[in-house]
Amino acid sequence: MNRIGELVLQAESEILSVEKGRKNMIVEIGEFKNKSERYERLAEACEEMIDPRDSAIPSLANVSALLKAHMDDVNWLGFYLFQEGYLALGPFQGMPAVTRINLGKGVCGTAAERMKTVRVDEVKTCGNYIACDTVSSSEIVVPLVRQERLLGVLDVDSPSPRRFDEDDERGLEKIAETLVELIYCP
Ligand code: SME
Repeated sequence: MNRIGELVLQAESEILSVEKGRKNMIVEIGEFKNKSERYERLAEACEEMIDPRDSAIPSLANVSALLKAHMDDVNWLGFYLFQEGYLALGPFQGMPAVTRINLGKGVCGTAAERMKTVRVDEVKTCGNYIACDTVSSSEIVVPLVRQERLLGVLDVDSPSPRRFDEDDERGLEKIAETLVELIYCP
């Protein structure tokens, strides 16, 4: 690397350390004996990782990467953001997905309209389901709500039926509560 490259790296690392009090973005999660403890740690990690001055897209891009890396048996994980009256595809990990979902449509639109988590044990038997990945078998959608205002949803799909239970629901809701406090949504 030449001298200019070294100086750019040094400057970038100084910006990171000044802004977040840290020198890199390495997030240690560790091993946990149950899912609930792992979700608690993931919620804490979101808090450590997100700088509230960033816009929602880079913050949620990192969160989608973190959650996808630390959740087992998941083929799609990402966010839809509520804007101009519909859910717009946000940061995600997985196969390409539908870009707009109206309230009440699909599992995402249903959770968004009700502002309540929706779990589907087998999407092939769900009448109101929008397919994005043929591999998906079960799904959980958790709304992101700040003071009764819908910001978006967190959507997680699994290739296994009945993948998501009450522990996943509580854990992902805890993460959603953490996110709505931190993400910038003017
Ligand atoms: N299955 C969702 C659509 C989004 S994809 O799963 C990524 C739904 O029914 O709303």
